[in-house]
Amino acid sequence: MKLRHVLTLTLGACVGLGAISQAQDLASKQDQAELKTTLNNCAVCHGLHGHSGSPTFPNLAAQQPVYLENQLKAFKNETRGDPDAQAYMWGMASQLSDAMIPQIAEYFSKQPPPPAVTGDAALIAKGRKIFTEGLPSQGVPPCASCHGPQAAGRDMFPRLAGQHAPYLLKQLLVIQSVLRTAPVMHGVIKDLTRDQMQAVATYLASI
Ligand code: HEC
Ligand code: HEC
Repeated sequence: MKLRHVLTLTLGACVGLGAISQAQDLASKQDQAELKTTLNNCAVCHGLHGHSGSPTFPNLAAQQPVYLENQLKAFKNETRGDPDAQAYMWGMASQLSDAMIPQIAEYFSKQPPPPAVTGDAALIAKGRKIFTEGLPSQGVPPCASCHGPQAAGRDMFPRLAGQHAPYLLKQLLVIQSVLRTAPVMHGVIKDLTRDQMQAVATYLASI
């Protein structure tokens, strides 16, 4: 092959590679812009950086990424079907591409945790005991055995610390009544009374 041809080929390859990397840059810029727009939509309800100002909307900040992914997929395929999930999240999640879900989960998991909110001291003490020791007489294992001693969660087990108490109570009720399908949790809390749920929710919001 003549040197001129080699040069032409090499040059051609470089231009080609340049075009590919430019296209990749453009695609990742578009991805970034799309992620930003999506996160702005989430912030309308879940607050800036996943720190929600209303107990109807759960805090997402510092939540476990695996748990967040699982929930977004469950809203998208309509398997998490409690009334508020249907009303608020099915439509939102239907807009999310499979590629974007892990990026959203990663973003929220890296935000600083939500602040603790103090509540009734007697209720908090009762809730702490349920969380750390369970209720042996009712066959309820310690919540800490899955959610961790500080309720920070791990993988599929959600963080509960600093979550809004009314949201936690609502979830315990919909899981107990099987409006939200969560088989492991359902077995654990099936005999928990509403007062016990209120106590453990108040404790969790306070840490
Ligand atoms: C119109 C209000 C609204 C918008 C916008 C919204 N959400 Fe939600 N989201 C909710 C409500 C309400 C719940 C609680 C549903 C329930 O009670 O089961 C929720 C629950 C969730 C949960 C479950 C949290 C947990 O602890 O189990 C995740 C994850 C979530 N939303 C992510 C998102 C993401 C990501 C976006 C943006 C793409 C978004 N949400 C936009 C209202 C909203
Ligand atoms: C055997 C393990 C296990 C034990 C013990 C356990 N949990 Fe859970 N919990 C889970 C799993 C797994 C999920 C996530 C379910 C899902 O993906 O929908 C969960 C979810 C939850 C949620 C929903 C959180 C959210 O953000 O929507 C609450 C609230 C909760 N647990 C509270 C408790 C309390 C209170 C106790 C103790 C009485 C407890 N859990 C004990 C495994 C456990």
